[in-house]
Amino acid sequence: MAQQSHSVTTLPSAKPSPKTPKSVPKLAGGWPLIGHLPEFLKNPVSMLSRGWHEQGELFRFRIGPRNFVLFTGPEAHDFYFRAPEDQLNAKDVYQFTVPIFGRGVAYDISPELMAEQLGFLYPALRESAMRRFARIMFEETSRFTDGLGEAGVIDLPHAMNELTVKIASRCLIGEEVRDQVDTGFAEAYHDLQNGINTLGFFLPRLPTAAHRTRDQARQKVAELFSRVMTERRRSGVRPDDFMQTLMHARYKDGRALSHDEITGILLTVLFAGQHTSAVLATWTALELIRAPSYLARIRSEMQDVYQENADMSHSSLKQQVLLEHAVRECERLHPPLILLIRKVLKPLHYGDYIVPAGTLAMVSPAVSHRLPHLFADPERFFPERFAPPASEDKQHHYTLIGFGGGKHRCMGKHFAYQQLKAIWTVLLDRFDFQFDTAFPAPNYGSWVTGPEEPCRLRYQRRSRAGIFR
Ligand code: HEM
Repeated sequence: MAQQSHSVTTLPSAKPSPKTPKSVPKLAGGWPLIGHLPEFLKNPVSMLSRGWHEQGELFRFRIGPRNFVLFTGPEAHDFYFRAPEDQLNAKDVYQFTVPIFGRGVAYDISPELMAEQLGFLYPALRESAMRRFARIMFEETSRFTDGLGEAGVIDLPHAMNELTVKIASRCLIGEEVRDQVDTGFAEAYHDLQNGINTLGFFLPRLPTAAHRTRDQARQKVAELFSRVMTERRRSGVRPDDFMQTLMHARYKDGRALSHDEITGILLTVLFAGQHTSAVLATWTALELIRAPSYLARIRSEMQDVYQENADMSHSSLKQQVLLEHAVRECERLHPPLILLIRKVLKPLHYGDYIVPAGTLAMVSPAVSHRLPHLFADPERFFPERFAPPASEDKQHHYTLIGFGGGKHRCMGKHFAYQQLKAIWTVLLDRFDFQFDTAFPAPNYGSWVTGPEEPCRLRYQRRSRAGIFR
């Protein structure tokens, strides 16, 4: 049963129905023992979209022994994101992060304590901090462009990764860590990232070589952060950054955070925010280069915004609405996290259906962002869909879910948007770009969905003087 033409308001209600609950409809296909594994591995988004077309907003499928249910559409998202933690639980699913983030933080502790720890950081993302971050984002991107020369070829995902590690380490951790990016931190961070693999997802403590490297890398990062904190306490220097915010923070019971807890929280934020940003920055470039007429409008908007004041700032970036819409369109078409997962701890009633305990419940930004009754011509890159009067993202609170929702919603969405806009404002001001390799397909083999590689761009420095001082 396809649900292509109904409006949001006609979707089934999430309230428990008085009738005997039914089991969730099953996705057609699948094999004995392995279930839908081969189709899922080949292309999870096309498999899950097929499920929505066949069954609508709720359906189930199996991968090996695990049962999954996908919730699709704004009302189903609303229900999913509002469910209490003791019913839909993130902690059980994200256990593979514990050896990376460490003990006593994030998914190793109760959801309440995790929320208290992340809550310490909200003041460090306030407006005044965002103004300072805008300068850092501009400076780091400018430094990056200085190293590019007149013309050449860049490996785009690699370049965006390098740049966002520098921005994130400086904004989200501290200047001292940024200074050590090229002398050990980037390497240790890379080894930690490699700790996120399929084996680690199922058996995070298995003593493999990759896991040993991961554990040594965490130790190195912990030592580096601890040295920085000890030096700050000794010298009395108090920069305005995440690390310092956590050094000052006190739990409700008055206790200060240990160095290891601070390291773990900083790693949580870095892992949540850096690679995702690099990937969305990559997709944004790819889509813009493929849409030269929209790109020309973005450049003309840049001229308008910066002709009065050639300094990049938080408020100038906010005025770049056309660029904002382009980034949002890339969030829609290429959400870096294509699946969000929770474990059902207590049976869940949705409409006429019951989802049994033990099921893994998911929402998929990549599937939900292609619903044809919400997004006209959903496969098309069309940033104008977010401008009035269409404002397709405003139809419901949860039409766009690239940054999640509810209790676990992303705390860094505004940071990420600002960063992407800053990076591409500077790069587009200074260079013209062309594809050196074909427009890539998504690589579903990794936790964060970037493009298949190789993915290279040719660039040429623009002849006229730039808009920035
Ligand atoms: C393009 C970049 C980004 C994307 C696409 C993204 C996406 C997401 C999504 C989908 C979630 C929800 C995960 C879930 O429900 O399971 C999330 C959570 C989170 N994000 Fe982001 N994020 C980005 C950047 C950032 C940045 C820059 C930061 C830090 C400043 C950040 C910090 C976090 C944290 C700490 C959480 C966990 C919140 C919790 O579980 O309570 N993210 N992000």
